[in-house]
Amino acid sequence: MNAPKTSSKIPLVDLQAQSRAIREEVLAGVAEVVDSCAFILGPQVKEFEDKFAEYCQAEHCIGLANGTEALHMAMRALDIGPGDEVITAGNSFAATAFAIAYVGAKAVFVDIDPDDYNIDVSLIEQAISDKTKAIIPVHLYGQPARMNEILEIAKRHNLKVVEDAAQAHGAEIDGKRCGSFGDIACFSFYPGKNLGAYGDGGACVTNDADLAEKLRLLRNYGQKVKNRHDMLAYNCRLDTMQAAILNVKMKYIEQWTDSRDQVAKWYREALQGVDIVIPMQHSNMRHAYHLFVVRHPKRDEILEKLKEDNIFGGVHYPRPLVEAQPFVESPCFPMGLPVTTSYAQQILSLPMYPEMTKDQVEYVAVKLKAAVESLSEASVGNQADG
Ligand SMILES: Cc1ncc(COP(=O)(O)O)c(C=O)c1O
Repeated sequence: MNAPKTSSKIPLVDLQAQSRAIREEVLAGVAEVVDSCAFILGPQVKEFEDKFAEYCQAEHCIGLANGTEALHMAMRALDIGPGDEVITAGNSFAATAFAIAYVGAKAVFVDIDPDDYNIDVSLIEQAISDKTKAIIPVHLYGQPARMNEILEIAKRHNLKVVEDAAQAHGAEIDGKRCGSFGDIACFSFYPGKNLGAYGDGGACVTNDADLAEKLRLLRNYGQKVKNRHDMLAYNCRLDTMQAAILNVKMKYIEQWTDSRDQVAKWYREALQGVDIVIPMQHSNMRHAYHLFVVRHPKRDEILEKLKEDNIFGGVHYPRPLVEAQPFVESPCFPMGLPVTTSYAQQILSLPMYPEMTKDQVEYVAVKLKAAVESLSEASVGNQADG
């Protein structure tokens, strides 16, 4: 492969490319909200909820302020609280475990599968105690967790399942969408997500009408009728303006997800023969490729070298959740989360967004190869010196 020429910066995510492409449609959607002044729970929210529920192959969608609140409200809706334990994956964004702590429950971490980086289903049963109430699998990077096995374990032990699908819009197992497996699934529309708002946004999706009703009360001060508060609840509604923008984006989500898949295929081709671990993809799953995460023992040096070439990667996430201050006392299975901990130092997210061109992917691959080779030469040199 010849080194393609790309002198301009390649960011981890390029929000501008997408924003430019749909600018006029978005402005028209926002103008409608401005003109109607229906800023809170306006008709655009319901329109989005209907579209997104259908997209997730689920019955109900409840638009919320962000993905963190979606997880928090899911815990509240399932009556999880002090004295309860909730099992989740050792590697996720902090919000997954924070939501468990917000309701006074204890997060219990399970190590990740060495191949797909999602919760290791073979370890979950060890982590179940008589206090366990729920499992929160995370569809990390856009690859679904092994939901069929997780649902079987949950059924055996009478546990609830809450999918953290913040990174997995449109991901599938055997054609069934993430968001349609658990009792509740939680999505984020943070701007950099596969379906991103122009500010914060999130949603819970469920097939259970009672849970949907409860989530609607929880997000809006417990009000079914104005000024009648049927429960202690919150203010964490999806903003009408964000819903209007998301409605525009819903037209493109499938096209963008397919483009991400194409980018991933280009990476796979271009990285053949490079001494780096590329992501595995289960053959029966649709990976939403929120992130394309590779692995190498000299991750930090590689990130630095890529930066010199104007390529900006990221790390998702550099520390296991159990090292975060609120969770240092949390139980881990197996002790110390060996896979999560060692991978946290090796994983590196390459630039990934639907508008990435083949030239850009090949440029990243060429520079990545050069970085990996220079580092292995350096270590051979060091051994020779020693
Ligand atoms: C896996 C995961 N869970 C939860 C969240 C929280 O979502 P938000 O940032 O919308 O609160 C995020 C995203 O930031 C995430 O990646």
